[in-house]
Amino acid sequence: MKRPVLKLSLSLLLLAGCAPTALIPASAHVTPAAVAASPALDPAMERRIAAIVAGMTLEQKVGQMTQPDVRYITPDEVRQYYIGTVLNGGGAWPEMDKRSTVADWAAWADAYAEAALATDMTVKIPLLWGTDAVHGHNNVSGATLFPHNIGLGAAHDPDLIERIGRATARQVRATGVTWAFAPTLAVGENRRWGRTYESWSSDPAQVRAYGEAMVRGLQGGLTGDADVLATAKHYLGDGGTFNGVDQGQTRATREELLGRHGAGYLGALDADVQTVMISYSSWYDTAAGRDHGKMHGNRDLIAGVLKDQLGFDGLVVSDWNGIEQVAGCAKDRCAQAVNAGIDVFMVPEDWRAFIANTVADVREGRIPEARIDDAVTRILRVKMRSGLFDRPADASPLTGRAEALNAAALAREAVRKSVVLLKNDNAALPLRAGRKVLVVGASADSLSNQTGGWSLTWQGTENVNADFATGQTLLAALRQALGADNVVYSADGSGVEVSDFDAVVAVLGETPYAEYNGDVRFPTPVQHSLQHPADLAALQAVSGKGAPVVTVLYSGRPAYANDLINLSDAFVAAFLPGTEAAGLADVLVGGAHDFTGRLSFAWPGSACSTGDGPGNLVQFPRGYGLSYAAPAPVGRLPAPATPAACEGPDT
Ligand code: GLC
Repeated sequence: MKRPVLKLSLSLLLLAGCAPTALIPASAHVTPAAVAASPALDPAMERRIAAIVAGMTLEQKVGQMTQPDVRYITPDEVRQYYIGTVLNGGGAWPEMDKRSTVADWAAWADAYAEAALATDMTVKIPLLWGTDAVHGHNNVSGATLFPHNIGLGAAHDPDLIERIGRATARQVRATGVTWAFAPTLAVGENRRWGRTYESWSSDPAQVRAYGEAMVRGLQGGLTGDADVLATAKHYLGDGGTFNGVDQGQTRATREELLGRHGAGYLGALDADVQTVMISYSSWYDTAAGRDHGKMHGNRDLIAGVLKDQLGFDGLVVSDWNGIEQVAGCAKDRCAQAVNAGIDVFMVPEDWRAFIANTVADVREGRIPEARIDDAVTRILRVKMRSGLFDRPADASPLTGRAEALNAAALAREAVRKSVVLLKNDNAALPLRAGRKVLVVGASADSLSNQTGGWSLTWQGTENVNADFATGQTLLAALRQALGADNVVYSADGSGVEVSDFDAVVAVLGETPYAEYNGDVRFPTPVQHSLQHPADLAALQAVSGKGAPVVTVLYSGRPAYANDLINLSDAFVAAFLPGTEAAGLADVLVGGAHDFTGRLSFAWPGSACSTGDGPGNLVQFPRGYGLSYAAPAPVGRLPAPATPAACEGPDT
């Protein structure tokens, strides 16, 4: 079901902002007639949908539009309230056991799927289960976890992205789930943002290419046993908020908002993405001087641009309690968001009240029933397109199969390609097998720091290595590559004589976070050694003590680290590589694999420089990356004293 070329060429014109005459003038509310017809709808499918909708009560329709979290609804309540979809938010597992098996997950999904088909409706409607599989099926113990998007951006390899999508879809189908809340299409701007690592790049063109590839990988042919629905998120402008405040205000002209932050959606639409999730952020139009408020209430951009103008005919889903942020709304009621064009409401806990309030809003004329019918039509269309009406999710032969969680070889390749060599003075790298190596740094043996947020738990915290039940820390990988007897580990660099070793590997890292918990709020300087002083201490304990120091940094953002780089002979930006650190050892040891990673964000030259654009002090530009084949000396970098607080508005 490929979109006609005309549609996307029009889309490109409309969104790329290439026509300064503002093809979408600030006041535009585009009428459907202004755009090419939606992509080919299947007339037989549409007739089937219309007949089902015509036979549904208002309560059944609103139930279809409601998405509780599985922790707050039982399978029988799904039946009773005609619920159309559920999700497992980060940190929800079968029986709330983090180490549940894939068979446990599949049985859990089955219980809800069967309940949805046990309603008293004439035509039973299958359930859609959504999950955040954002770097592999990161909810499930035993699943291979891929590098987070910021590292994958450094690979500059859309084919790899598509293959990761395919592998992730297999992992998700093994658990009986058929909807992944991925990819994030944010064009990251300010590294203060706690979700920077969920963005592939600050380059809209790369986000567009990657968005298309990931949707293709996840969705495949839509109806296959290894296919899942993808989600283009978070529409629109999530990565562009002022000072990188998560869920904050994106200050941009309409052309910037659509052309820059909309780029990924063109790629996703090209790949026929079937669902779009709305952003918590708000939009302030800097050309018109107008605050448009929260995206969850923006009818012009949701119904007007996304649906009418770009012809998106899948379903739009709100974010977790996102509707409560719309002026005048609450967690359990928001006629404005329904009328804006949102079709599915992620109302994790207050779903009963939401159903009752929304039915009342329709009955009392605040929501046209035609809008409800359009939402349910879209939901049924997506379910039919994904084959759910013809073949239950658990019919896939992947269901319950633990081996489907394994994608270690692909993830190892992704790690090799996603790490960036920032410095390699005095040819400190590669390490040689058989040489004596001292490893320091708490992150060397921490799968948590290696995988970051959205890993087993929402925040990626409260995990021990054994919880992952797969993967390898960098310490373990180095022991394997160098010979265990040749590697000594001291987390803080104490108790050892550095000059006894041929080299030191210092593995430094952020501790995991997700969403706003990862924000570094203005005016706090963003400098790794300030936020993680123990890392600086460990590096100082070994630097200049008679052995070359190779530093590897795990970070969810381009991290100002000139002070750390100056204490190192070699420095590798490893971002958040996931469970397979063997991919790091592959490029650190022996030289069999060279570094190919190139930064997809500019790397800052000061603690108060937070973006790529003008006014920022950049140490290494987007596209930078050294290799063994193309070495270059870096020398001592400027590391002036960092101010107690940054001044002036961050760019
Ligand atoms: C979160 C995130 C979103 C995620 C959703 C469900 O708040 O913003 O990316 O898909 O909730 O977990």
